[in-house]
Amino acid sequence: MTVRGKTDIDHELLKKVVDGIAIEIGNATEWGKAADYIPELAKVDTRQFGIAVLTRDGQMIAGGASDTQFSIQSISKVFALTLALKLHGEKVWKRVGKEPSGDPYNSIVDMERHKGIPRNPFINPGALVIDDMLLDGKKGDKIPDTVRDFIAEMIGEDEIGIDEDVVKSEHTSGYTNKALANLAKSFGNLDNEVDDVMHIYVRQCAVALSCRQLARAGRYLMLDREDIDGKVSKTDAERARRVNAIMLTCGQYDGSGDFAYRVGLPAKSGVGGGILAIVPNTASIAVWSPGLDENGNSLLGTLALERLSKRMDWSIFGAIRRV
Ligand code: DON
Repeated sequence: MTVRGKTDIDHELLKKVVDGIAIEIGNATEWGKAADYIPELAKVDTRQFGIAVLTRDGQMIAGGASDTQFSIQSISKVFALTLALKLHGEKVWKRVGKEPSGDPYNSIVDMERHKGIPRNPFINPGALVIDDMLLDGKKGDKIPDTVRDFIAEMIGEDEIGIDEDVVKSEHTSGYTNKALANLAKSFGNLDNEVDDVMHIYVRQCAVALSCRQLARAGRYLMLDREDIDGKVSKTDAERARRVNAIMLTCGQYDGSGDFAYRVGLPAKSGVGGGILAIVPNTASIAVWSPGLDENGNSLLGTLALERLSKRMDWSIFGAIRRV
C-alpha cells in the first residue's frame, strides 16, 4: 500500500488542476475588497490572482501571477511564531494562548477580557507579544529584521525585500495596533517599549514575496523526518507540527472554522491577500488575490484552496478517493 501523501503525488493531475483554477479564478466576477485601513494596500488592483504549489519532491507547479510580489502581512506571524518557539520553547505559551479567539484579529475587548494574555499568536496582540520575545533587548535602529532574515534563509535567497511604503503607511495608520501594544504593556505582558515592538512588527508584515517564494518559505512546515538528509531534526519536525496546529485552529481568525470545513488544511492568511497552506508531508501552497472577505482573508484565495484541496483530495480530515 502506498502511504498517502508520500509517494502518490500525481504531478500531471496537479498541473491540470492548478491551470484550471488559474483560469476559473481569472474569470471571477466578484473579487472582494482590498484592505483599506492600511492606505498603501488599498491602492492594489484587486483583480489579480497567483498560485504556487511546491511538492515535497521539490517540484513547483504554479499559475496566474505567481511571480508578482505582495505584502505578506499576517502570514509573517507564522515565521515569527516559529522563531519564538525556537528561542523560548514552551515558555511562549505562558504569555500567549493557543485558542481561537472568535473575535477579529485586531479586537481590543478580547485583550481586556483575557487580562493582556492574547488568545493566540496570530491575532495582532498575540503577534505583538511574540515579537516582544524576538527583540532580545535590541532597540530603535539596532533592531534587526529577524523575521525577514529567517524567511530569506528558508527560501535560500539573500534579497528578500521589505516594502518601505507599506512600512510608512502602517506606522502612520496603526493606531489600533499601538493601542493593543499599550494594553499588553499595561498588563505587564511586554518587556520592551511599545515603539520597538511596533517597529519589528510593522517591518515583518511589510515583507514582500511572490507566491513562488512564499511556497518555498513554507516548505519547512510540510516536511517530516524522512526529509531529514541531516537537515530536519526531530525538534524541527515537532515544532512544525505545532505551528501547523495553530494555523489550523487560528490561522484565519474568526473564519478558521469555515476554512477548516471548506479547505481542510492548516493555513495562514494576510490582509495583503496572500494565504500560505500546508498539506503535511505533501505540499506547501501559496495563493494570492488582494480582495478580502469579511474576516480579512482573501476571498478568491480561499476559493482556490477549496478547489485545490478537493480536486487533489488533500484535506487532512481524510481521503475520499482510493490511493
Ligand atoms: O496589523 C495589521 O493589521 C496588519 N499589518 C496585519 C493584519 C493581517 O494581515 C490580518 N490578516 N488577515
